[in-house]
Amino acid sequence: MRVRAEMREDRAAVRRAHELAFEGAAEANLVDALIADAATHVSLVAVEDGLVVGHILFSPVTVESADGDWQATALGPLAVIPERQRRGVGSELIGEGLTECLRLGQEVVFVLGHADYYPRFGFRTARPLGVTCEFPSPDENFMVAELRPGALAGRTGLVRYRPEFQNV
Ligand SMILES: CC(C)(COP(=O)(O)OP(=O)(O)OC[C@H]1O[C@@H](n2cnc3c(N)ncnc32)[C@H](O)[C@@H]1OP(=O)(O)O)[C@@H](O)C(=O)NCCC(=O)NCCS
Repeated sequence: MRVRAEMREDRAAVRRAHELAFEGAAEANLVDALIADAATHVSLVAVEDGLVVGHILFSPVTVESADGDWQATALGPLAVIPERQRRGVGSELIGEGLTECLRLGQEVVFVLGHADYYPRFGFRTARPLGVTCEFPSPDENFMVAELRPGALAGRTGLVRYRPEFQNV
């Protein structure tokens, strides 16, 4: 299995991976819209035997704060096709994705997702740190990772995703 940057010719396979993983079109449509609008920080595919088995995307967020808005990135959607799940593909995509985010200068990454999956990659609940999400969710599902220790120091606010997320 190899992780590499998503390319134009991967579009149909990436769409299919999200449709299969999420059992519907909502996330696939979101990914299509974000890529069409060039609203991605990082977009990676996992390829096995020439087949796209997973995809991860990071898109920009704005954190609104009384002290001044700031920019960060958000992980998701992330999808691994059902027959290749639980074999480390998702972990590999997250690891490579976070490395690429840091390489691009992104130091704070948010995720709205499974509370028992993301902490192993350095994510922790965001609300106790003073950061909340525009979308309603249990506190434990909205998490943040500092890719550089201390990157979140003194930073709080309300995270707003790209407008494409409003349609999901
Ligand atoms: C979540 C997902 C990306 C994980 O990818 P993966 O390649 O299966 O994950 P890995 O093999 O790296 O890690 C496996 C571990 O992830 C955890 N995990 C997988 N799916 C999970 C889920 N739905 N809820 C909680 N933990 C989950 C488990 O701890 C699992 O370990 P185990 O097999 O020892 O129980 C994949 O299952 C998927 O695409 N699911 C459907 C879409 C989705 O939910 N996307 C993420 C939205 S936050």
